[in-house]
Amino acid sequence: MIDTSKLKSELLLEISSTDAPRTVLRSDKLKDLYSQIPTLPPEQRGDFGRLVNQLKNELEQAVVEREAELSKVELEPIDVTAPMDVNSNRPEMIAATDGSQHPLSQEITKIADIFNRMGYLVEESREVDDQFHMFESLNFPKGHPARDDYDTFMTEEVDENGDRLIAPAHTSTMQNRILKKYRSNLDKGEAIAAIVPDRVFRNEDLDSRHEHTFYQIEGVYVAKNVTVGNLIATLKEFLQEYYQQDLDVRVNPFYFPFTEPSFEFALSCPFCKGQDDSCKVCSGEGWVELLGCGLIHLNVLKMADIDPSEYTGFAFGCGIDRLIMMKHQIEDIRHLESAKLDFLKQF
Ligand code: DAH
Repeated sequence: MIDTSKLKSELLLEISSTDAPRTVLRSDKLKDLYSQIPTLPPEQRGDFGRLVNQLKNELEQAVVEREAELSKVELEPIDVTAPMDVNSNRPEMIAATDGSQHPLSQEITKIADIFNRMGYLVEESREVDDQFHMFESLNFPKGHPARDDYDTFMTEEVDENGDRLIAPAHTSTMQNRILKKYRSNLDKGEAIAAIVPDRVFRNEDLDSRHEHTFYQIEGVYVAKNVTVGNLIATLKEFLQEYYQQDLDVRVNPFYFPFTEPSFEFALSCPFCKGQDDSCKVCSGEGWVELLGCGLIHLNVLKMADIDPSEYTGFAFGCGIDRLIMMKHQIEDIRHLESAKLDFLKQF
């Protein structure tokens, strides 16, 4: 009797390695087996016919399994819009990047963890928003000159008021939503405490310190009797935990429409501590301007139905890329969005 086992393993191997497994069922080698049946002595034809049919069934089963396997691969395309850490779970990306997470993802996780431990919830922002959240809810009425400071990208689509939708130019767009969402905490005697680490967009001239797409962390805290002292203590605590060292902070008066008083917040340079005139991080000044902050303006609280005579709060907004650049001494902000493997492999 003809031995079909060698042919069987050959065809199974073909099925498991081709993207068109069904073509193997039409292989000439299989057809040859069928054409041999009539050439055999009559008493052998039945057994051989059964053997060939059995082989065909096994091959068909293998084809079905292979097809299922192939369709599964098709159902999982690489999402090119996903952040690097999602794709890096795929074996081919692990090979390409040694499986490291993008530095922005790593640092945002650390930042969120520090604020979580201080009792803050984490919220996400949006990539398209409206002008009410970008401006009006933050006490920039229509025509307010400070609107121009934000170099906001506008879309051609408009909202129900006929105002163009925008790519948010700061994470402060989430303040009104956070205040409304957690408004009921105040009635229960609890604080509103949330951060928003997310992406923002500005129509900037690009250079080593300016990028059109970058990250900010917004912080909002509201309770009874909140003071500037609470604000400074919170930010100092966060920065010392983030940089793992004692730091001095400097607070200068500034102007934002949504805080009153408003401040610019600088910290003593974590690298040279003001001891190196040629320090690239602080340009030898010993201080690095890091973020804007202040006590939440009465109008911003009122717009979220919070009575400013009963509750006060602080808010802050800090560039995450700047924090990371200082931590890792990255000289050009554009590396962070560049997807350059040589850069990413260092993390
Ligand atoms: N949104 C401001 C900006 O991007 C930063 C900022 C300043 C946020 C003061 C705040 C704040 O919450 O209180 O320029």
